[in-house]
Amino acid sequence: MMRQSRGVLLACMLTCSTLVFVGCNTKSTPQASQSGADDPFPGVVSEDAKARAIAAKDALFSKLSGRLMEVMQADGPVKAIEVCSKEANEIAKVVSQEQGVRIGRTSLQLRNPKNQPPEWAEKLFRNKPHDPQFARLDDDTVGALLPIKLQAKCLMCHGTKETLVPGVPEQLAKLYPDDEATGYTEGNLRGWFWVEVPAASASASDLLDDADEKA
Ligand code: HEC
Repeated sequence: MMRQSRGVLLACMLTCSTLVFVGCNTKSTPQASQSGADDPFPGVVSEDAKARAIAAKDALFSKLSGRLMEVMQADGPVKAIEVCSKEANEIAKVVSQEQGVRIGRTSLQLRNPKNQPPEWAEKLFRNKPHDPQFARLDDDTVGALLPIKLQAKCLMCHGTKETLVPGVPEQLAKLYPDDEATGYTEGNLRGWFWVEVPAASASASDLLDDADEKA
């Protein structure tokens, strides 16, 4: 049972990450999708900013999945929901600081109402929900939006009555009375990671300011 939970979660996390970066990338044509006439943010995005966004997403993913795995293995999904409810946003804050970005997860059907998207991210996903997108925002920050699709293994906590694991609906009702994040089936778009990478010029001048203060 313990082994199974662990395997299931691992599979969840791995397939999820693969889908975001391989599945969606191969399906779409990122070059073309960035410069279409309907693009709300037509500015050029550097490869460096994209790489930083993806590195931050990988870091968040790895910290979240590591912690979830630990709890699932020890105490199963019902307990994992409780731990997730206490720690998910804290973990995102730690990753934000470590990576020098802002980062979070969001959805059109939220479980945690605090996971509202930034305005730019909502513009992007309403425009092209299924594509990974990078946008140069008005203040030259780079915004990254990376879709998350549901695998069969996520359905123990996000699925229909038939696929939710026993005890999970009660736990969700207790901790997330306004939960909108069930009823999904495999392959559904669940939501997005969003990342804000500060403009290179802004971070360079921040560094200069620091140097001035020290001098
Ligand atoms: C152990 C149960 C559990 C499993 C398994 C699980 N989730 Fe969740 N999920 C949660 C909980 C609890 C939250 C709310 C976290 C919070 O409070 O920020 C959540 C939140 C999310 C969010 C953030 C948006 C929102 O609605 O608040 C996304 C996106 C998400 N899950 C995707 C997935 C995907 C994709 C998988 C499979 C790879 C998955 N989840 C597997 C319990 C689970």
